[in-house]
This record gives sequence, structure tokens and C-alpha cells, in this order.
Amino acid sequence: MNDALENILLDVSKSPDIDGGDLEKASELILASALKGLDITRVSIWLLQSDKQAMRAAKLIDEKSPNAEVPVLYKNQLPSYFQALESERTIIANDARCHPATIELTNGYLEETGVYGLLDVPLRHKGEMIGVMCSESRRENRIWTPAEVAFVGMLADIYGRAVSAAERERFEALLIQQNEQLESMVEERTQSLTKALDNFKQAQERLIETEKMAALGKLVAGVAHEVNTPLGVSVTAVTHCEHRLKKLNQSFTDGSISRKHLQTFIDNTFEAYQLLSSNLERAATLIQNFKKTAVDQSSFELVKCQLNDYLHALVLSLNPMVKKKKVTITIHCNEDIVLKTYQGALAQIVTNLVSNTNDHAFAEPDENHQIEIIATEEDSGVRFSFRDNGKGMDSETIKDIFEPFFTTSRQTGGSGLGLSIVYNLVTRKLKGQISVQSTPGEGTEFSFFLPNLPK
Ligand SMILES: Nc1ncnc2c1ncn2[C@@H]1O[C@H](COP(=O)(O)OP(=O)(O)OP(=O)(O)O)[C@@H](O)[C@H]1O
Ligand SMILES: [Mg+2]
Repeated sequence: MNDALENILLDVSKSPDIDGGDLEKASELILASALKGLDITRVSIWLLQSDKQAMRAAKLIDEKSPNAEVPVLYKNQLPSYFQALESERTIIANDARCHPATIELTNGYLEETGVYGLLDVPLRHKGEMIGVMCSESRRENRIWTPAEVAFVGMLADIYGRAVSAAERERFEALLIQQNEQLESMVEERTQSLTKALDNFKQAQERLIETEKMAALGKLVAGVAHEVNTPLGVSVTAVTHCEHRLKKLNQSFTDGSISRKHLQTFIDNTFEAYQLLSSNLERAATLIQNFKKTAVDQSSFELVKCQLNDYLHALVLSLNPMVKKKKVTITIHCNEDIVLKTYQGALAQIVTNLVSNTNDHAFAEPDENHQIEIIATEEDSGVRFSFRDNGKGMDSETIKDIFEPFFTTSRQTGGSGLGLSIVYNLVTRKLKGQISVQSTPGEGTEFSFFLPNLPK
């Protein structure tokens, strides 16, 4: 190939228009280069239609008659030409009107355009023939040289490169568009999920609220029921006293009162008053306990509690309670453990546990009755183990012990609020956890963890 053609090829190959993705621009450059390199006046690119039955001019430069009408090339009218494009690398027709591959073009194309020589290179993309680049000579005796054949062959290859670039550009644009669509879909889904989550949270909150109200309702009903019994007894006692007082008053008015009569009245009234006072006291205690279940936030102060000292002081004050049944309370707690907590709440918890052990674990006085309180420091708080070696509980009892008003000793005055108070204090006020383990005949262990509370 001569230098002139080499230089033209180099210029085309280096041009950014080839790989820029704009096929129109690339085609223009390729055709202009062919015109220049081959010194001809008409050059064109034809593309196969999607049905592969016809080709239309995608780009045509005709310097002699720029406005001439451009025909459509149909396969059924030009079978040899289409066949040659499929199978040949190049159709080299110095005299196209006699060449077997192009003779069909004589009428309707070559004669109308005044073309004699054709140098046609099929255009291929991904191995498929997609069209043809036609270099056309209007000189009768034009002989295409091997260098020119090689030159158009290379231009056709460069066109293939440009097609790939345009395709890549189209795919990239499509990808961007699809990404945008995907993003907006994700955004839409996220919004609807967020909304669903919000609705779910609201529903959950409403459910929790309903549960709380139900628990409170149960608690209030329980209290009302519990308080009703001692108050009922008190009302009966008062009515009974009133009735007897009326009778006494009558005997006094009509002078029939006797010493024995008066004595009986005094005895009965004493009994009634004792009944009255014990029942009213019981009602008052119930109300007080009930108030404690609500865990009054303001009744305790947050302090750094020196645990060992505090537990010892507390147990000292509880000893009178357990003295009668000869219960020994031992404490295992390192001197230096400090727990930041509501000390008053901790006192209430230990008191209730000790009182329960005294009431329920041990029936008769015995030297062997033991309560052990073990405090172990952990990462963010202290774990307590509260153990007794008493009668223990069966699984049916354990299941309900933290429920308000659950008691196995209603006859002896138990209200069933002690452990529900403990549970509320540990879990709500002191933000800890509590669990219980017990084996009938072997004893019970309450284990609870109390975290160091922030300010
Ligand atoms: N250390 C224990 N050993 C055996 N049983 C226990 C022990 N502690 C609690 N119980 C059982 O748990 C039940 C519930 O205890 P809780 O303190 O809530 O109510 P109570 O002691 O019966 O009544 P009160 O409200 O007067 O405390 C008790 O009735 C008892 O059956
Ligand atoms: Mg109790």
C-alpha cells in the first residue's frame, strides 16, 4: 500500500470519531477518506434491513449529483449480488456491468448513476454481514489496484469498530437508564416498606398499650377483690355493734339493764373491735402494697451503694423477722463491690425475699434453716443469688409466682403481691432480670442481675 493510503488510514484509525459512539460521524469520516484515497466521486454505506431482504443507503456521498434519488436494493431482484456479499471478502468489479456479481445492478442503478467500476466490501459485525461499503468509479476503464482493495477492506474493518463503539454507547445509555429505573424502584419499595414498618410499630405500640391496660385492669380488679373481703368483715362487725348498742340503749331507757347483760355487751364489742381493727389494718396494708407495685419513681434515690456494708445493715434489720424460726442469713460479698442503683428498691427486694422464705420455705423453727445471699461483680453490674434450703416449690407454683395476687397462703393472710413487687422493681425500676429455680424438698434460688444505672 502506498504512503498516501497508509496516511489516510492512520488518520481515520486515530480519529476519536471512530470510537466515540456516534456512527453518523464515523461513517462520514470513513466515506470521505474513501473518496480521497480512491479519487472517486461517489461512495456509500448500505445497511441490511432487519428482515435481511433489502438494503438501504445509510450514508451516501455523491459529489457529482448530490441530490440524485437513492434506490432500495432488494435481495429478490439482486440475488447474485447479495450472494456475493455473503461469501466474498470484496467484490472487485472493474466493469460492474459485466461482472457476474454486479451485472444485476446495470439497469436501475449503474446506468442511472453513470457508474462503471465497483469496489464493494461487505460490512461485518460480530461475524454477521450487516451491509456493504460501495466505492464507485465513473471512469470506464478503472482498474482497482490490490493496494486500493486492501485500503477499502481496512476502512470496512474500521467501520466495524465504529459499529461496536456505537453499540457500546447505546448499551451504556440503556444501563444508565435501567439503573435509574432500578434506583427509583428501590426508592419506591423502601418508602413503602418504611411505611409498612411504621404501621407495624404503631400497631405494636397499641398492642403493648392494650396489654398494659389489661394488666392494670387485672391488678385493679384483684385489689378491689382483696380489699373487699376485710372491708366486708369490718362493715358486718360495725353493723353488729350498732345493733347491740341499740338494744343496750333500750334496756337502759326502760331500766331493764342487768350487770350480766352489760358484761356480755362489753365482751362482744371488744371482739368486734378486734375484728374491725385487724381487718382495717389488712385493708390498709393491701392498699400500701398495691401502691408499691406501681413502682413509684420518686420514692428512691440513685446512689453508689457499698454493697457489702449495705447488705449487712439490711440483714441486721431483718433478723427480728426470722428469729422465731431460727433462720440464719449469711452474706457473701466482696468488700469493694459498689453498685450504682436505687438502694431503697434493693432493700425492698431483699425484704420481700426474706419475708417469703420465712413465711413459705420454713414451717417450724429449726437451727438448720439457712438463707444465703451471694453478690458477684460482673461487667456492667452485680449478680445476686438468693438461696434457701427450705421446702421448695413445684413447677405449677413456680409458673405463677411473679403474678400479682398469686399466693398459696391466702388463709394465713398472704395477698400474693410480694413477688410481683419484686419482679417490677428488678425489671422496671432497676432495669435488671430475675429468674427462679426450685426443687421441692431442696430449696429455692432467686437469681437476679442489677446493672449499674446511668445518671
Ligand atoms: N422461698 C420460697 N419458698 C417456697 N415458696 C415460696 C417462696 N417464695 C415464694 N413462694 C411461693 O410464692 C407465692 C407468692 O409469693 P408472694 O410473695 O408473691 O405472695 P405471698 O407471700 O403469698 O403474699 P404477700 O403478698 O403477703 O407476700 C407464695 O404464696 C409461695 O407459695
Ligand atoms: Mg410474700
